[in-house]
Amino acid sequence: MATTMNPPRDPNTLSNYNNWVSTHITANFNILFDQKKLVGNVVHKLKSITDGESTDIILDTNHVDIGDVKVNGETSHWELLPPLEPYGTALKIKLAQGVKLNQTIDVDISVKTTEKCTALQWLTPAQTSNKKHPYMFSQCQAIHARSIFPCQDTPDVKSTLDFNITSPLPVIASGLPVRNASDDPQPSGERLYQFHQKVPIPSYLFALASGDIAEAAIGPRSVVATSPDKLRECQWELEADTENFINAIEKIVYPYVWGEYNVLILPPSFPYGGMENPIFTFATPSIISKDRENVDVIAHELAHSWSGNLVTNASWEHFWLNEGWTTYLERRILASVHGEAYRHFSAIIGWKALADSVDHFGHDHEFTKLVTDLKGKDPDDAFSSIPYEKGFNFLFHLETLLGKQKFDQFIPHYFTTFKGKSVDSYEFKATTLNFFRPDPEASKLLSELDWDKWFYAPGLPPKPKFDTSLVDVVYELSGKWKTLPESSFKPQPSDIENLTGNQIVVFLEQILQLERPLSPELSKTMGQVYGLARSENIEVANLYFQVGLKAGDQSVLEPTTELLGKIGRMKFVRPLYRNLQKANRALALETFERYKDFYHPICRAMVEKDLFGKKDA
Ligand code: BES
Ligand code: ZN
Repeated sequence: MATTMNPPRDPNTLSNYNNWVSTHITANFNILFDQKKLVGNVVHKLKSITDGESTDIILDTNHVDIGDVKVNGETSHWELLPPLEPYGTALKIKLAQGVKLNQTIDVDISVKTTEKCTALQWLTPAQTSNKKHPYMFSQCQAIHARSIFPCQDTPDVKSTLDFNITSPLPVIASGLPVRNASDDPQPSGERLYQFHQKVPIPSYLFALASGDIAEAAIGPRSVVATSPDKLRECQWELEADTENFINAIEKIVYPYVWGEYNVLILPPSFPYGGMENPIFTFATPSIISKDRENVDVIAHELAHSWSGNLVTNASWEHFWLNEGWTTYLERRILASVHGEAYRHFSAIIGWKALADSVDHFGHDHEFTKLVTDLKGKDPDDAFSSIPYEKGFNFLFHLETLLGKQKFDQFIPHYFTTFKGKSVDSYEFKATTLNFFRPDPEASKLLSELDWDKWFYAPGLPPKPKFDTSLVDVVYELSGKWKTLPESSFKPQPSDIENLTGNQIVVFLEQILQLERPLSPELSKTMGQVYGLARSENIEVANLYFQVGLKAGDQSVLEPTTELLGKIGRMKFVRPLYRNLQKANRALALETFERYKDFYHPICRAMVEKDLFGKKDA
């Protein structure tokens, strides 16, 4: 742990967590749907980690209303420091005297969220599935928790949590429910929902959702929660795989420690594919494709229960330790359920995403490094496939270099060593070297490995040899399309009959990459003959619309705008708007105007940057 001599290792917090650490948080909130606000107080149990050296407590906040602050029950003096974008406004609380090493104090802060809160989305009944009730949900990663309540908003500090949440509608949180006798609703229809998280977690894993939510079992320790009218289809999508995934990863790492593993399927404006909130993964409804083909997202979020939620990146500069490890474990789960070829298939798709991201930023860009410099930067701006896929490729390289059997022994060692802790890339390296020290052969290989190049060189890493057995058929088909219209190739529904949804995704990615785009007629033929425009699998529909937009095929315009009004997941929304504006800018602007209130604040801001040229970082 850092002392006052060293600055904190996370540059994206303003808190002085090298003087104090929050060991427990009690969050007491009323969910006020009519005001679109959370109102209540938070109590931090703060431990002094210096010997009385600090009489200031500095916490992160952003756009919150602070009422009074009490330290051990006594009203205290506080002030807001000048805002420092993109990190917000630090809250400074003055103490009368320092606190001895390891002694704790209780800091109780009254707080209200505001309209500018970036972590919460409030939906009207009309924006929900059955249109009956309002809905709210949080998304705190990376640094949005500070817009809900004052905290040490850094992944380098972990606290246990108590949630006391009052709402007129069911509540879900990142803790296990505490059921007690006072569960009855009050006359107002409101109820107190209590949760406890006994495993210390960082602030970015604080999560809340409330709305018309029902639950159904998807395994012996799992439920899916969603709008009552969508419950059955969500249950069907997830019930076949969830427990198998948990069993698979428990064999690779060690047993699941959190108790329950549940999934909340959110309204369609949820801006990500999934978010690994403990106890309840939050996920987009676009994974409910009625073919169980997008449950990879669940394998991924589940894997975060070890990589990220137990062993946490110490700062967003080491984000690859969360996402690279998780992508690696996700693919190990898939291999144990669907076979090794599937793991390689997924890695090939990942390599394409990596190459696209490197092209997007530029091959020398800071954000194409595995370990990034985020001083003064917003971690959301650095977000891309790079930490996922460069991180995966680094771990896959270590696996190949050392041999799978040896690497398999290292996995539980690493997750045991840093269980409950936060870790950076230097500690990762030291632990790897230490573990293999008794093995001269492995040690030699690791000492010859160019660690610095992996950590700090921008651009693509060396491309490994993947098993291409599941993509070869796809490349063969896209090769035939490439010869059109000159050749005699006649597309038939049978061309794709034996392909999975994800193979069709790879096929469409190949078509998108052709130097000469399809003619409008060929795009239309492809959609009709292969039934792509009508696909329930949104990954497929999305890519087909991209192909059509690029081809100037007018028949995709209407279904594209329709899709843009139905889904707010940034992975689809941003590329669709970028391509729609190239095909028909007026239509893109008109569509955005119509749907902008439907999108999450983060998504709306990103699309605005894309459409109106506001330069991002
Ligand atoms: N933790 C991420 C989502 C995230 C990252 C939110 C950074 C905010 C800031 C989550 O685990 C994730 O990676 N989701 C992916 C799923 C995929 C890789 C299977 C997504 O949203 O697409
Ligand atoms: Zn992830």
